Formats: sequence, C-alpha cells, structure tokens
Amino acid sequence: MREKHKDSNVRKPKLWAVGGGKGGVGKSVVSLLLAFWLARKGKQTILVDTDLGGANLHTLLGIKSPSRTLNDFIAKKYDSLEEICIESEIENLRLICGASEVLSLANPQFAQKVKIIQGVLKLDCDYVILDLGGGASFNFLDFFLVSHQKILVLTPQPTSIQNAYGFMRNAVYRRLTQLSRQMPSLQALVKTAMNPKNELKVRTIKELFQSIHDSDGEKVIEGLKKEIQKIEPAIITNMTRDTKDKNAGRIVQLVAEKYLAIHPLDLGSVVYDKHLEKMVSGMIPLTRLDRSCEAVACAYELATKLM
Ligand SMILES: Nc1ncnc2c1ncn2[C@@H]1O[C@H](COP(=O)(O)OP(=O)(O)OP(=O)(O)O)[C@@H](O)[C@H]1O
Ligand SMILES: [Mg+2]
Repeated sequence: MREKHKDSNVRKPKLWAVGGGKGGVGKSVVSLLLAFWLARKGKQTILVDTDLGGANLHTLLGIKSPSRTLNDFIAKKYDSLEEICIESEIENLRLICGASEVLSLANPQFAQKVKIIQGVLKLDCDYVILDLGGGASFNFLDFFLVSHQKILVLTPQPTSIQNAYGFMRNAVYRRLTQLSRQMPSLQALVKTAMNPKNELKVRTIKELFQSIHDSDGEKVIEGLKKEIQKIEPAIITNMTRDTKDKNAGRIVQLVAEKYLAIHPLDLGSVVYDKHLEKMVSGMIPLTRLDRSCEAVACAYELATKLM
C-alpha cells in the first residue's frame, strides 16, 4: 500500500516530459521504461498520458479501458489529479490516463492546460513523467517547456532526426513568443522569423538574436539568451540497431547548437528490442518486462543519469 507523504505540501514532484516530433518513435515506451526504473529505485512515480485524442499508454500497461481519465478531470468530474490516478502492477508506479476517443478536449484551451499543469505539480509523489503525444502542437510544447527535465526521443531515421530538430525549433520559438509577450515589436519580429522563408532573411536563432540585438539592445538579448539556454533537452535515440545508429542524437545535438543556440545533452540510446516489440504486438503488458530485456537495461543507464 502506498504510504501517503506526511506533508504533501512539502514534497514537490520533479516533472519530466518526454516529447519528440514524430509519432511512433517510442515516446510512450521510453516514458514507461524510465518510470519503471524510477519506481524500482523506490521513487513514487506517476506516468501521465497527456494525449487527449489518441492515448495508448494504458494499453502498454495492460489496462484495457481506464475507469478515469484526464478528460474527467478537465470536465470537473474529479477535483484533483490524485483522484484519477490508477495503480499499476508495478510497485510505486501509478498512471494518469489520457483519452482515446476524439473529443473537443483533444485540444485543451489555455485555462484547461494551466489546470492540468497546476494539478500535476500538486501530485503527491517524487516524479511525474509526462508522455507527450506526437507532433509539436502548442499543448505538447507547453507541457515540455514547463517541465524540469525535458527529454526528446528520436529514432535513427532521417525523418525522425528532422522532426526532433523541428520540435526543438518550435519549442525555442514558443518560449521566445512567451518571453516577448509584453513587447509587441519583439513579438512581431519573432513571429516573422518563425517562418523559415521570411523576408528578413533571418534563418537561424543566432541571426534572430542579432536582429533583436540591433533593434532592442544588449540587455534584452542577454535576458532572452539566458532563458533559451535553460531549455537544454536530453536526447534519447530509440530503436538503435548498430553503433552507427547511436550517432543520431549527436547529430541533432550539433545542429541544435549551431542553429538554435541551445545546448542539448546527447543522453544515450535504447536498442531495438525484438522481445519488447513482440510483447507490444501480443498485447502483453510491459509491466512484465524484466532486466534481462535489452531495452530495459538501456533505460536503467538513462534513468540513472537523469536522476
Ligand atoms: N526500443 C524498442 N524496441 C523495439 N520496439 C520498440 C522500441 N520502442 C518502441 N518500439 C515499438 O514502437 C512502437 C511505437 O512506440 P510508442 O507507442 O512508444 O511510440 P510513440 O512515440 O509514443 O507514438 P505516438 O506518437 O503515436 O504516441 C511500439 O508499439 C513498439 O512496438
Ligand atoms: Mg505515445
């Protein structure tokens, strides 16, 4: 039985978000593997499926039809996220399900998003892992940006590398847009630069910074740079089949440093694991995974580094 923390106001969970620009790269699998190890290390962990349109994390955990989902919380059927947590077969690991039916809530409004983020930060646990859905919608970017640890999952495929870069680019622009909210001229400049074919010929964040420097001065640009550098995602290359594949994370890291002026960490990789894939396709819950599984062993290294 989970022991309730003596003073739940004291414990503030660490928030990890697992994102990536493309569907099917393994965000949910990696989220689960990291959560598995945090739980195994005795940390109270809650996995949150933030996908409100095509959630499937619960299926990986062997839960067919969740009795409560994030949509129930948004629809005010429950007052706190604690109430919609579902116990998993793994000790110390609970789950908050997204919703697989396409509802209008698949695109939550700003207030609903804030409600989810505030609710997550009040959860009584050590770690919350947010499994972000595919694509780079504002919702996923906002969950990503608000997290203490930002994790980017990609596969060695060129399209996945491109998408991971695109996701980071969008995250940087989203943050710049937030930061320039009180400065309309700066916000207009950021908006123009967001279009890769803009008439100002600003192609990279470094070039954008130069333009901002020219128009708004040293102080503004130093403040923005400092904030942008806090983004620092940890990159995980998933489904690697050979040593060459492991370079994908490094490639994205170098490109991001060059064009986005951020410094991601090339955290490491998770091998392509036939056994794991068989379990998923055979609907065998991944809660039955054990350390002998190659992907599980890889995730141990990554979770340890992140902790
Ligand atoms: N390391 C791995 N080894 C073998 N197969 C894997 C691995 N990681 C993921 N897979 C396979 O890839 C499939 C897609 O993974 P997953 O559902 O985690 O992707 P996703 O990025 O969360 O997708 P979506 O954007 O649709 O939510 C899994 O069902 C599984 O079969
Ligand atoms: Mg997923």
